[in-house]
Amino acid sequence: MQFQKKLLIPYDAIQKRVRELARQISIDYRGKDTVLIGMLNGAVFFFSDLALQLTVPAKIDFIRASSYGSQMISSGKVKLTKDVELSVTDKSVLIIEDIVDTGLTVSHVISHLNTRDPESVEVCALIDKSERREINVAVRYCGFRLKEGFVVGYGLDCNEEYRCLKDIYTLE
Ligand code: PRP
Repeated sequence: MQFQKKLLIPYDAIQKRVRELARQISIDYRGKDTVLIGMLNGAVFFFSDLALQLTVPAKIDFIRASSYGSQMISSGKVKLTKDVELSVTDKSVLIIEDIVDTGLTVSHVISHLNTRDPESVEVCALIDKSERREINVAVRYCGFRLKEGFVVGYGLDCNEEYRCLKDIYTLE
C-alpha cells in the first residue's frame, strides 16, 4: 500500500522538547542510582538524544518488546525478545519509549521490571497517543501528546520503513 507522509513535528521542535525533558529529568533524578532503559528499536534516536542531554549520571540498557507484527495495528500480544542485562534491583529506572499507544507494551515491560524490585519505575515517552489506549499507563515525562494518526520517522516505523527520517510525519 502507498502512503503519503505529512510533516508533523520537525527535527528542531523534537530537539527543543528533548532538551526540556532532559532538564526536568536531570532535576528529578539528582542523587539517584539511575538506569535508563531504551525500548528497541523505535526509541533509539530519542534515547540517544535525551541521554546525551542529561546532566546527572545514569547507566544505560535496552529492552525489546514487540507488540506489532508487520501490521499498522497492534497484535495485542507483547513478546519480550531482549531483556535488560544490568541489575535494576534498588535502581531508579526510567523507561524511554518512542510511543505509547494502546499502552500494552510499556505496561508489560513495567510489570516485568517490577518483579526485580527496583526503587522506582517511570516512563518517558516521546509521543503519548491516546486514540487507542487500552490500559492506563502513567507517562511521567511526555514529549508530545497526540489524539490520533499513524506516525513515522525519528525511530518510528511502518513495516520497518521510515525510521531514519529526522522529522516525524503522519502517514495518510
Ligand atoms: C512500538 C513502539 C512501542 C509500542 C507502542 O513498538 O515502539 O514500543 O509499539 O505500542 P502500544 O502502546 O500499542 O503497545 P514495536 O513493537 O512496533 O517495535 P519497534 O519499537 O521496533 O518499532
